[in-house]
Amino acid sequence: MTDRIDASPAAAWFDTVDVAALRARGGAKWTKYGDSVLPAWVADMDFPPAPPVAAAIEDVLARGQLGYPAMTESDAVAEAFSGWAARRYGWSVDPSLVLVTTDVLQPLQALVQLCSEPGDGVVLQTPIYPPFHTAVTGIGRVIVENRLGAADEGYPMDLEGLAAGTDERTRIVLLCNPHNPSGRVFTRAELLGLAELAIERDWLVVSDEIHADLLYPGATHIPFATLGPEVAARTVTLTSSTKTFNIAGLRLAIAVFGTHALLERYRSIPRFLLGGSNVMGVAASIAAWRDGEPWLAALVDHLRTNRDLVVDTVNASMAGVRTVAPEATYLAWLDCRELLASGRASHAATFFVQEAGVGLNDGADFGVVGEGFVRLNFATSRPVLREILQRMVDACAG
Ligand SMILES: Cc1ncc(COP(=O)(O)O)c(C=O)c1O
Repeated sequence: MTDRIDASPAAAWFDTVDVAALRARGGAKWTKYGDSVLPAWVADMDFPPAPPVAAAIEDVLARGQLGYPAMTESDAVAEAFSGWAARRYGWSVDPSLVLVTTDVLQPLQALVQLCSEPGDGVVLQTPIYPPFHTAVTGIGRVIVENRLGAADEGYPMDLEGLAAGTDERTRIVLLCNPHNPSGRVFTRAELLGLAELAIERDWLVVSDEIHADLLYPGATHIPFATLGPEVAARTVTLTSSTKTFNIAGLRLAIAVFGTHALLERYRSIPRFLLGGSNVMGVAASIAAWRDGEPWLAALVDHLRTNRDLVVDTVNASMAGVRTVAPEATYLAWLDCRELLASGRASHAATFFVQEAGVGLNDGADFGVVGEGFVRLNFATSRPVLREILQRMVDACAG
């Protein structure tokens, strides 16, 4: 595997991952299974860090600055994100409304706890990233399920179902946009419909936009908080550089509060319950948001070709499995219900580990509506992806 690349790497750079090196480097993705399994589950990519990010981390070490970060470093993170949001989404973020957090799930959990009471309802648009479920049920809140529509209609948001399925005990919507696992990028009309209901019914919207940079041509990310001042006033946006730049282990994210009143409310939580930042994450995020765009453009090019390979192979050659092209993310949501109905497999994720040697996420973890599905992470080299797909095709044929 190459350690160093130009700021804007040639496409071939993303094809040089070395499986033996990945198995040896440690980390959740490559240590869960034995050597016979190719892992395509957790949302980490197989590529080394982007050069500006690697340089920033090396610089921290070279300076020997592993003590507490300076107070001003949080401001620098906020400034760097503000520049990124303006350039990429035309979103003008006031840095004084940005709070640096340990990761995305920590403020998500804290907001559910702060802004609802036991027994209150929290809307999840299912199937959805498993920790959203536990953030609600783990502290005695109630999931108000709002299922996305059918795959052949492109997983639309069901606004009528949302209006009908919520009541006065519903307090919060945990929005995931782009959506994990469907890969949907919600349209302005869908988001406005949700915003209208949120205003009418006085809901807080916690908008997890961690996948917003991994967008394919034709899709536009609309930060929920940009839908207007009334919408921003009830929105907390959670994001980070860690999915885009593959640095989740550095544990750093941000929460962008729609108003100072919301931020002050959040600050009523005792400070030491809220964790904090770390020097490597701070340096890496600043570098990523300031200088990471050329690398990101090359990454998205690579991922788009991978996505097309997945969709074409699954739909043309993987008997009993169907999928829809994600508009964002490096995650494909595979419908295996026909495979299961045929009797060739009784549990899709287990079948693919045992019969194909491919480790995927079990769709049931994303909610009842995910039963019979698996999630495949295609952020790897083309040779590894081809091997993953071939193994799955062969298993389904056998
Ligand atoms: C939608 C979504 N939110 C949050 C996370 C986790 O973010 P963090 O590690 O910052 O908590 C992930 C990770 O895959 C994710 O897909």
